[in-house]
Amino acid sequence: MDFIEEIEKLKKEKNAIILAHYYQVPEIQDIADYVGDSLGLAQKASETRAGMIVFAGVHFMAETAKMLNPDTPVILPDLEAGCSLADSCPLDEFKAFVEKHPGHIVISYINTTAAIKTVTDVVCTSGNAVHIVESFPKDQKIIFAPDKNLGGYINRITGRDMVLWDGTCEVHDILTTEAIISMKEENPEACLIAHPECNAAVLELADYVGSTTGMLKYTQQSQNEKFIVATESGILHQMQLRSPEKEFLVVPSDETCSCNDCPYMKLNTMEKLYLAMKNEKPLIELDVEVMQLARKPIERMLDISKKLKLI
Ligand code: 13P
Ligand code: SF4
Repeated sequence: MDFIEEIEKLKKEKNAIILAHYYQVPEIQDIADYVGDSLGLAQKASETRAGMIVFAGVHFMAETAKMLNPDTPVILPDLEAGCSLADSCPLDEFKAFVEKHPGHIVISYINTTAAIKTVTDVVCTSGNAVHIVESFPKDQKIIFAPDKNLGGYINRITGRDMVLWDGTCEVHDILTTEAIISMKEENPEACLIAHPECNAAVLELADYVGSTTGMLKYTQQSQNEKFIVATESGILHQMQLRSPEKEFLVVPSDETCSCNDCPYMKLNTMEKLYLAMKNEKPLIELDVEVMQLARKPIERMLDISKKLKLI
């Protein structure tokens, strides 16, 4: 079966929009109507008038799209496409953590479940996290969850002392300085770009730290010809498309592996995408009250981002 042709047909038939994250396989990125980072995807989801949203990404991203479009069917090709960061922050434990820190507001990374967003004041993504934190007064006490690497990075560059939930991304946190230093030795002219979900030692070595969109733009604007990329391998597709003359090397997670894939993002395939669109399932379903509460901190993030002209 020609999945490209069939998916294109279904898109028209069902007035569907396909939103894809940069970590999807290249074929999915190529057929998507929009490819972006978590912030861009949330913004797109907030603007769309499509009859069906097909989310080629992970569960928390599709949940966000559903919250912003409660009356539109939102489909995720594989419901098992979760996220280790979202999983690291169960509601009951997080509520107890918040209770232990009275007077703190809660800023949550978008990589959280809808339940966590119901007890969040404002959501952020890696693309706007520093700006969202800086939109609060210096003396505002803040709990930042769930990524301790992103939270630690923000603390270091803003001089804040946010209380951090102890969560990490299983894909980024395992990248080591040893692997990077040995790549740097072999490619001394290459510049290191890293996602803020990497650990502090890796971020310390980076020439640029930013979201997937931030890294992509950096590779387009930089005079450098070679980049060591410390994030999930899917982003290399867009980097290579936009700068065909440049060279991109993904940081190996260990000596035996030259790739760095998110096992959840990579659950989506062209076949699953086609079947999901054809059968209009699996659907993202959320409790109405949860949706109402969880939507507020997302809308607050979008409002702040618009005011600051980040989107
Ligand atoms: P971005 O906000 O850069 O898209 O990152 C999302 C993510 O899940 C990174 O692992
Ligand atoms: Fe979650 Fe990490 Fe995968 Fe991003 S790369 S979806 S943070 S597990």
